[in-house]
Amino acid sequence: MRFSIASLILLVAVPVAVSACEGDCIVEITNAFVTNYTNPVDLVMESVAKQISNMLPEHPGLATTMDLLRPVTDAYKSDAYNGMETAIFPSYFHGKCQRDGVDPPGCPNPDCPVVCGTPGSLVHFYGKLRYIAYNQTRQLLDTLTTPGSSIYGELERKVLDAANAHAKTRRMIRIYQRASPYGTVPLFLTKRNEDLKNQLRQIVDGIGPMLLEVCGGLDDGETNGLPDCSWEGAMKDYILSFP
Ligand SMILES: *[C@@H]1O[C@H](CO)[C@@H](O)[C@H](O)[C@H]1NC(C)=O
Ligand SMILES: *[C@@H]1O[C@H](CO)[C@@H](O)[C@H](O)[C@H]1NC(C)=O
Repeated sequence: MRFSIASLILLVAVPVAVSACEGDCIVEITNAFVTNYTNPVDLVMESVAKQISNMLPEHPGLATTMDLLRPVTDAYKSDAYNGMETAIFPSYFHGKCQRDGVDPPGCPNPDCPVVCGTPGSLVHFYGKLRYIAYNQTRQLLDTLTTPGSSIYGELERKVLDAANAHAKTRRMIRIYQRASPYGTVPLFLTKRNEDLKNQLRQIVDGIGPMLLEVCGGLDDGETNGLPDCSWEGAMKDYILSFP
């Protein structure tokens, strides 16, 4: 069978009519997920702040403990966008669903062998997209609070400073100094700091599970999981507003 130039152009042109999600589409959809995750992440951080307050002398208010969490919350804010864009787009939804510049057979419909980054495909695989956004958010919070990381070190230092700068602690130190032989105070402080570090670690280890709970549970990547971090109707409408 022979093709005229015109029919050849038509054959090539039809699939191209389905636009890949590129440029603004990538930026705005990534922003939509990052923005929608602001509330769940805030809820988790507020819970962490309250637990930290419980371990500190005289239990400072939310504003004070949220301030101790600034190393983590600031880093989250600055890293969330890039991490989310990479997790959604090149990692799973591949712009034009081409291999070596050629559409595989059957592409770019949503079920083609490469998952396309078209708006239709994002909607078609919404369960996967929802899971990617959740997993990325959880992984980022985990990474930022990994023991030994610089961000976690900063958090730990701020919490210990807050605990030790407190008048009650200073009073205890004076009591130890009066009542005990030299050497007991450093021992008391070391033991106390170890206890505080362990308590902080336990609280921070709860971040991932807390995010899962805030999102309504079921993070097996299947449909209907994470019902409170899904925003399915609004998101699908939004995604499909891109050409
Ligand atoms: C989630 O994002 C979509 C798209 O931007 C928006 O329409 C919706 O209101 C957002 N929902 C929440 C709860 O932030
Ligand atoms: C979850 O996110 C991490 C970090 O981005 C990634 O390495 C991992 O493959 C993701 N897991 C799934 C099941 O997508």
